[in-house]
Amino acid sequence: MDLQSEAARIREAAAKAIKTCKSIDDVDAVRVKYIGRRGELTLLLRKLGEVSPGQRKEVGKMLNAIKDEISSLLAERRKEIETALKDETLRKETIDVTLPGRRVRIGKLHPTLRILNEIIDVFVGLGFTAVEGPEIETEYNNFDALNFPPWHPSRDDFDSFYVGDGYVLRTHTSPAQVRVMKSQEPPVRVVVPGRCYRRDTPDASHLMSFFQIEGLYVDHDVSLADLKGTLAIFAREIFGPETKIRFRPHYFPFTEPSAELDISCLVCGGAGCRLCKQSGWLEVLGCGMVHPNVFKHVGYDHKAVTGFAFGLGVERIAMLKYGISDIRTLYENDLKILNSL
Ligand code: DAH
Repeated sequence: MDLQSEAARIREAAAKAIKTCKSIDDVDAVRVKYIGRRGELTLLLRKLGEVSPGQRKEVGKMLNAIKDEISSLLAERRKEIETALKDETLRKETIDVTLPGRRVRIGKLHPTLRILNEIIDVFVGLGFTAVEGPEIETEYNNFDALNFPPWHPSRDDFDSFYVGDGYVLRTHTSPAQVRVMKSQEPPVRVVVPGRCYRRDTPDASHLMSFFQIEGLYVDHDVSLADLKGTLAIFAREIFGPETKIRFRPHYFPFTEPSAELDISCLVCGGAGCRLCKQSGWLEVLGCGMVHPNVFKHVGYDHKAVTGFAFGLGVERIAMLKYGISDIRTLYENDLKILNSL
């Protein structure tokens, strides 16, 4: 066998194979095949001994030159493939900075809580302090101390959640009046937000659980005019500067006189429409002058002090402000609706 022509054939074959390499693995395979420990050219080099001494040097030189050539072709191809791979990765990992980002959804307070905070803020601005009372209340604080007669219908099992041992889930925030007055001397100026419970069958305007805010102002010469002035400011702040108010006589056991506060209709302004049932007015809250019997229960001198109180339903105010006709909307937590409010 002619070593030189065999070497030339190997050189051609290797060069061709190197050109078709697509990966580093391909390059390695070609290297092993031709110049590896048992590669075709390596084996050929081992046969140098068979060449006649006169030609050995020249043939050896040629074989080694071919080996070097194949080595550098392999190295070149390897580099090309590596560069191509790197370019490909870079291309894939490129960030399109002009692509619009994903929107981060930011939560917001529930409309009921928003209105609750707004109302509290109005009264804090008038010098009231916000305090809280327990949701599980004594029957005494919830009813007796508030001058509810023993036969009053709201004491009925059908209206209140009794939890036993003289306790009831508070049916209103008014018992907080008793707690506050028992714990401090006049002057008292508090608002009490909180959850209340009643055995009502849920419908468009009733739920078994709802929020109220109680207000109480007691001092030595608090008058009905103070009550009216305070609630007029409340109404204007919450419902807008054009809002008019009126008192409608009512009955509550713990106030005398008692009244309900109406505001001029938010839709028609008083002319009469569907929302106000053509009356021009919307009922907003209950209020009155603290009954002397309540003062007696808490140990205040009912001849020396006077006070006013009021209690409002937070969901009712939220419904009026947001134009919601069914109170259950506020508890279903349909995000589409909540986001629109
Ligand atoms: N507690 C009453 C209720 O739940 C609301 C109320 C009316 C509170 C008159 C008051 C008030 O403080 O003076 O219906």
